[in-house]
Amino acid sequence: MNVGIIGSGTMGSGIAQVAATAGCSVKLYDTNQAALDKAKASLEKILNRLIEKGRIDAEEKNRIQSNIRYVDSLKALADSNLTIEAIVENIDIKKKVFSELESYVTDDCIIASNTSSLSIASIASSLQKPERCIGIHFFNPAPLMKLVEVIPAVQTSKAVLDKSVETIKSWKKTVAVAKDTPGFIVNRVARPFYGEALRIYEEGLADFETIDHSLKTLGGFRMGPFELMDFIGNDVNYTVTETVFTAFYFDPRYKPSFTQKRLSEAGYLGRKTGKGYYDYSEGAVKQEPKEDSELAKNIFDRVLVMLINEAADALFLNIASAEDIDNAMTKGVNYPKGLLAWADKKGIDWCVTKLDELYNEYHEDRYRCSPLLRKMNKENKTFF
Ligand code: NAI
Repeated sequence: MNVGIIGSGTMGSGIAQVAATAGCSVKLYDTNQAALDKAKASLEKILNRLIEKGRIDAEEKNRIQSNIRYVDSLKALADSNLTIEAIVENIDIKKKVFSELESYVTDDCIIASNTSSLSIASIASSLQKPERCIGIHFFNPAPLMKLVEVIPAVQTSKAVLDKSVETIKSWKKTVAVAKDTPGFIVNRVARPFYGEALRIYEEGLADFETIDHSLKTLGGFRMGPFELMDFIGNDVNYTVTETVFTAFYFDPRYKPSFTQKRLSEAGYLGRKTGKGYYDYSEGAVKQEPKEDSELAKNIFDRVLVMLINEAADALFLNIASAEDIDNAMTKGVNYPKGLLAWADKKGIDWCVTKLDELYNEYHEDRYRCSPLLRKMNKENKTFF
C-alpha cells in the first residue's frame, strides 16, 4: 500500500515509522526541508536504539528505512492509496492543503487528518469528494501508543470507514471508532482527571503531592494529574481544555482552571521549563503527601466518579461503543482499567450516589449525573 504523510513533525514522522514498519511504501512530505532532515535523523536514532535493545536487527532497520522516502512536493504523493495529514492545527491551512492534494491523487485515495481538535466535517468540506475524508487520530508517540481513534465525518462513506479501520488494524493498532465531536473519545473523557484534581486543589482540600499520591496509590494511575499536566505541558493541556470547553458551548463540566491558566501565563509550563506544579530544578525536594487515608479516599472517589460520569455520558450520546470507550482510555492514555468496567466494579448505585452527593453539595451543573447511569441504576444493569 502507498501511504502519503503530510507534515514530518512529531506526529507525521511517528506515523511514517508505524506505516513503514507495517510494510507500506511511505512518502513523507513537509514544506520545511529542516523538518524532513530532522525526521530522517530521528528515525535513524530510534531504530539504532531498537537494535541496542535487541527488538530489531540491522536488516529490519534497513527494511523500515528503505520503505520511507522524504519528499518536498505535495504532488509526489499522487500515487497514494491513503494520505494522512499531520501539519499545523489550523483549519484554513489544512483545507488549502487538502484541496490541492485532491487535485493530484486518484479518485479512490483516502484523505485523512490526524487533527486532535478540528471538526472532520469541516476539513472534508474542502474536498470535491468529501466522502473520502476521515479522521485518523494517533497518540504521541505514535509508534508506542496502541490506540488510534478513527473518526468518520457526516460525509464519510461506509467503504472509506471500513477500509481505514482495516488498514490501521493491519498496522497492529487498536482502533476505537468515534463520532465527529469535540475531543473525540480520549480528549473528552479524560478532562475530569485534570479538571477535578485542579478543583480539589483550588478548594484547598489538598496539595498537588497529596492529590497525585492518592490517584497513584488508590487508583493505580501511572502518573498523578499534576505530574501528568507538567509532563504534557500546562500550555498544551490548558489549550485542549479551553478548546473542548468552547466547542461544547461552555458546558461547565469542561470549565478550565485559573490555577492552570496562571501557571501557563507565568511560563511555568512543567518539565520543559523546569517548573510547573512541581520544581524540576536540580536539588529541588518534593514535599511529602499528607498521610490521611480518608482524605486520599475522598480525592480518589471524586476524580474517579467524575471520569466514570464522562465516559457514561459519551456512551449515552453515542460517541463510541462501550468497548471502544474503555479501550481508548487504557490504550490511549494508559489508564489502569476501562472506566465503564470500573463503574461496574464500584457499582452503578455507588456512582449515582456519589455524583448526587457532589451535586447536592455544590448545586453546579458540572456535577450532574449522566441520565444513562441513573437509568441503568433503576434497571439494575451493568455496562458489560
Ligand atoms: P509539529 O509542529 O511537530 O509538526 C508539524 C509539521 O508540519 C512541521 O514539520 C511543519 O513544517 C509542517 N507543515 C506546516 N505546514 C505545512 C504545510 N502546509 N504543508 C506541509 N507541511 C507543513 O506538529 P505535531 O505535534 O506533529 O502535530 C501535527 C498534527 O497532529 C496537528 O493537527 C495536531 O493537532 C495533531 N496531533 C498532535 C499530537 C501531539 O501530541 N503533538 C497528538 C495527536 C494529534
